[in-house]
Amino acid sequence: MTTVLITGGAGYIGSHTVLALLEAGHEVVVLDNLCNASRESLRRVERLSGRTPAFVQGDIRDRALLDRLFHEHAVSAVIHFAGLKSVGESVAQPLAYYENNVAGTLTLCQAMQAAGVTRLVFSSSATVYGDGHPMPLHEGLPTGQPTNPYGRSKLMVEELLGDLAASDASWSIGLLRYFNPVGAHPSGEIGEDPRGIPNNLLPYVAQVAVGRRERLAVYGDDYATPDGTGVRDYIHVMDLAAGHLCALNALGEREGVHIWNLGTGQGHSVLEVVRAFERASGRAVPFRIEPRRAGDVAACWADAALAERELGWKAERGLEEMMADTWRWQRQNPQGYSQDD
Ligand code: NAD
Ligand code: UD1
Repeated sequence: MTTVLITGGAGYIGSHTVLALLEAGHEVVVLDNLCNASRESLRRVERLSGRTPAFVQGDIRDRALLDRLFHEHAVSAVIHFAGLKSVGESVAQPLAYYENNVAGTLTLCQAMQAAGVTRLVFSSSATVYGDGHPMPLHEGLPTGQPTNPYGRSKLMVEELLGDLAASDASWSIGLLRYFNPVGAHPSGEIGEDPRGIPNNLLPYVAQVAVGRRERLAVYGDDYATPDGTGVRDYIHVMDLAAGHLCALNALGEREGVHIWNLGTGQGHSVLEVVRAFERASGRAVPFRIEPRRAGDVAACWADAALAERELGWKAERGLEEMMADTWRWQRQNPQGYSQDD
């Protein structure tokens, strides 16, 4: 079994992946500066798994800390989640995004190189495809022009990692392009805990259902989609976590850069999500149709065939399960983790 460094492992996708790795018998070291996470998520991972990951509170931009970490732990691979992820905030604070996401990854790679650790799984996003491609999106398409600094930071990192792998055949790097991660662990113990007003659909819907927000704004009902509302490929975070494990294993036998979409291959509209959430929760989710949100596309979903072929991975959980698990987490933790801090 390998020792895996998980940057950003206290966050939403990271905590579910830490759990999956612990359950698979790996040793895990989490590095997180807790700028968008709570220590409580890892306490709960410990309870669920009966195992304790090593935790280092610190920053991926801190080279001396990284050197120490690689010296103290026999890390053989890194799963790199740490970064900032809010599109709106990235427009207001581009330097913070380039610094955390791009410069942070650069520092991490320099420390990995110095330590001789060359297996890396990176959290990328479907946003790197840009607009204008026919659906579904497959990995062979050229990357496009993301419309915001967050998206550009992901694309820059993909390019940086491509150059790195081209320079030295010992690197094996997986670029995982996530579609829309949602859901929570079926226990309801860990889940997504956004700070402030959620930007993304599911956390907002869940907070309306639990009574924290009055009503959902549906951004546009005049798109060229079956019911006029935006269509996305929502993927259960448990499936996503499993995908990281498969990618980690597959990279053990591969060189160079490999791109894999992590999506279900199926799109659902905003109204379908709202209805499914109402069914799962037994609560009404009041909404009002509002103008389109700037930068949104009508529809986006994955061609998920490559990951199935090359990783033996396939998303298994459908929309109903995504909604039921989101609701269980929201109901059990109406204020997220903050009640325990
Ligand atoms: P998250 O904010 O819950 O997790 C990110 C974690 O990184 C947090 O725990 C945060 O405290 C930590 N972090 C941030 N900057 C850091 C730094 N400089 N040093 C150390 N730790 C730092 O977000 P998430 O939803 O779990 O996303 C994980 C990754 O996946 C991110 O890179 C994100 O851009 C990417 N991604 C997320 C989505 C999504 O919809 N959630 C979609 C596509 C890609
Ligand atoms: C957003 C990010 C994208 C990121 C992705 C995954 C933007 C512009 N893009 O994409 O970079 O990779 O999350 O997390 O923010 N919606 C509403 N009301 C709401 C919120 C959303 O109607 O309050 C609609 C949107 O118009 C869209 C769908 O719900 O049709 C999904 O939105 P969201 O969850 O924000 O994800 P994306 O826009 O796909």
